[in-house]
Amino acid sequence: MGSVVCTLVAFAAVVLTTAQAQVNFTQAWSDVPFQTFPGGEYKSSSAMTFPGSTSMSAALFKLVAGGVRDAHWHNVDEWAYVINGTCRATVLEQGKLRGVDTWDYFEGDIWFFPANTAHTVVALADGCYFLTGYNNASFTEERDAFGLSDWLALTPQRIMAQALGLNTSAVPANLSSRTSHDGFLTRLAAPPANSLDAYRASTLLQPPQQAAQVHRFPLAHGNAPEVNNGGGYINLADSSTFPAATTMMGALVKFEAGGLRQLHWHTTLSEWQFIINGTFEGAVFTRAGVAQDFTLGPGDAGFAPRGSAHWLRNTGDTDAYMILMFDGGVFTNEDVGGLIGVLPASIVASSLNVTQGFVASINPRLESMVPMASGNLKQA
Ligand SMILES: *[C@@H]1O[C@H](CO)[C@@H](O)[C@H](O)[C@H]1NC(C)=O
Ligand SMILES: *[C@@H]1O[C@H](CO)[C@@H](O)[C@H](O)[C@H]1NC(C)=O
Ligand SMILES: *[C@@H]1O[C@H](CO)[C@@H](O)[C@H](O)[C@H]1NC(C)=O
Ligand SMILES: *[C@@H]1O[C@H](CO)[C@@H](O)[C@H](O)[C@H]1NC(C)=O
Ligand SMILES: *[C@@H]1O[C@H](CO)[C@@H](O)[C@H](O)[C@H]1NC(C)=O
Ligand SMILES: *[C@@H]1O[C@H](CO)[C@@H](O)[C@H](O)[C@H]1NC(C)=O
Ligand SMILES: *[C@@H]1O[C@H](CO)[C@@H](O)[C@H](O)[C@H]1NC(C)=O
Repeated sequence: MGSVVCTLVAFAAVVLTTAQAQVNFTQAWSDVPFQTFPGGEYKSSSAMTFPGSTSMSAALFKLVAGGVRDAHWHNVDEWAYVINGTCRATVLEQGKLRGVDTWDYFEGDIWFFPANTAHTVVALADGCYFLTGYNNASFTEERDAFGLSDWLALTPQRIMAQALGLNTSAVPANLSSRTSHDGFLTRLAAPPANSLDAYRASTLLQPPQQAAQVHRFPLAHGNAPEVNNGGGYINLADSSTFPAATTMMGALVKFEAGGLRQLHWHTTLSEWQFIINGTFEGAVFTRAGVAQDFTLGPGDAGFAPRGSAHWLRNTGDTDAYMILMFDGGVFTNEDVGGLIGVLPASIVASSLNVTQGFVASINPRLESMVPMASGNLKQA
């Protein structure tokens, strides 16, 4: 009896401690102002501003027409989703002789740039609005990326002259005075014309060897598996459909009014959520006795650490859209119906303190998206 009391006291103490140490798995990112540059607007989300996101970080870019993200690379992988407008991106692939991979990325397209492959993005005449995700919690582009203009500005002029085949006196002071901030998002006098061929040809090395279109994947145009159980859909691409993306993946999720993303968890992945539009409620179950309920609006972010059970529901009366980013290349998913459905009814009844008659009324077949009307019970 004494030991039972002791155990109960210890258990209560653990619950109290965890409640005090609760981590916040959402960020009111929509409240964070953009930084403004000549080429457009930018903001980041990392462990500094969103401590609950323990394995990923993100950024939002709104490039104006002709806005250029300086050629750069970084020691983390990058997955991105184009929300609207058109981005023309070039990535330099090691291992192909001066190979370049330049494509236009339209709304609904995704890219994956592996760590330390240099890339640059320019917005065409309609501008470009995109979300990027990185598989490191503390990474930010403004602090941790290696940019071309920043690199050369930090290089002594005589070394630059020797490296570029110029006379030292011919190296303009402009190069050395550039800061990482100056070069971050610049703007062309006019956005590039639509012709990709002309753009690809306007380089110093002729002709550029064109690589295969390995880093682009048109996600949201019927090219990826779409799970649709009513209530919306999940349009996702992992490395089985987009082979370049070996270490990150993502999805566009549509929620109809009242639609629920089924209670589920990922065995191998953490999930970073970005609300494009609409309003959501949700929860993350993170440890014994602790589940965090939350609401998210347009531009807000959420995170579900690997293994944590979670759900999301559209609380509005129109369709709502969300981008999900994951820190692994192979999708894994377990949901509540699959778990309850494979356990003997007697075990479920004992676990939940309910009758086997009640267990028999549960519909285990409601999968990824559950429409508002169906609820969790079978229709009578
Ligand atoms: C988490 O952060 C959001 C946005 O700042 C805030 O509205 C919410 O109350 C916080 N939740 C918890 C559990 O601290
Ligand atoms: C994309 O959509 C956002 C949000 O609605 C809007 O602010 C922005 O101007 C749009 N950008 C482009 C390039 O269409
Ligand atoms: C993430 O990036 C930070 C800052 O560059 C680095 O210190 C850390 O080791 C990285 N973490 C992982 C898991 O790679
Ligand atoms: C460097 O300057 C010398 C003398 O002024 C000139 O002959 C030479 O062509 C210049 N080299 C380059 C690469 O401009
Ligand atoms: C240096 O920058 C200024 C301002 O953009 C420009 O007018 C000038 O032509 C540049 N100089 C060189 C040598 O490129
Ligand atoms: C919400 O976002 C989706 C996906 O980007 C877009 O197709 C839709 O038009 C947007 N809805 C509204 C009302 O802006
Ligand atoms: C089971 O449910 C009943 C009815 O709500 C309640 O009185 C009882 O305390 C519960 N038993 C346990 C062990 O939770």
